[in-house]
Amino acid sequence: MNLIFLGPPGAGKGTQAQRICWEYSITQLSTGDLLRAHISKGTNLGKEAEGYINSGNLVPDELIIALIKEELLLPQYKSGYLLDGFPRTVPQAIALDKLLEELQQSIDLVLVLEVPDEDIVERLTARRTCPTCGKVYHLVFNPPLSEGRCDLDGSELFLRKDDNEETVTKRLKVYKEQTMPIINYYQQKDLVQTINGVGRLEQIYKNIKNILKNLKK
Ligand code: AP5
Repeated sequence: MNLIFLGPPGAGKGTQAQRICWEYSITQLSTGDLLRAHISKGTNLGKEAEGYINSGNLVPDELIIALIKEELLLPQYKSGYLLDGFPRTVPQAIALDKLLEELQQSIDLVLVLEVPDEDIVERLTARRTCPTCGKVYHLVFNPPLSEGRCDLDGSELFLRKDDNEETVTKRLKVYKEQTMPIINYYQQKDLVQTINGVGRLEQIYKNIKNILKNLKK
């Protein structure tokens, strides 16, 4: 099963993706996580990407497409994957189609998680992330059991540099201008299912599962 997860920043893509991947034994491919790993390792890609990410802009298509081409060849993606945060522009969607053709693969479904702008800033400024396993928390809606520590490995949770009000507002603008057009791109291929991303995490997950059960594996 190969899925694409779309939605504005803070829609809950990462949170739901972790559950889906665990239950359906597929691999999450988050371009945001990959880029942040490059930044912490100080690679050339990380150095190039950092300024774009911290200002809320998209990293240039050619860098992202090269990253995805390398990544999708890895064995962990052979038994299915969920693309979280990619593609994000029409050129990225077209490049993905070409790559999938070469790999003789296809996308089964594009899930679009919808959340209104007014909820996004509140969600992101209170988000905390584990630097070790990537698990995502929210200080109010999904807090860790022990304050400031990851439930899974005890690492100290951190606030992402791009999770401040100014950058989140910019990211929302970029989403509307550059990423929303690809929803139409995938609608034309009849691949899109939309989900309300407001409500309890468990209920949203249940709604996603209801859609996934109709997919052939
Ligand atoms: P990326 O890391 O992909 O960030 P994003 O798309 O902005 O999405 P987020 O990770 O912020 O949100 P999410 O939807 O995963 O929400 P989450 O589950 O964490 O990208 C970062 C940057 O990298 C980009 O700006 C760009 O610069 C660059 N980049 C990445 N990919 C790129 C690409 N393909 N091309 C070019 N550049 C690229 O949830 C958010 C919070 O809400 C959490 O605290 C969570 O606990 C809480 N929450 C979740 N669900 C609920 C709920 N139902 N109710 C209440 N709270 C909830």
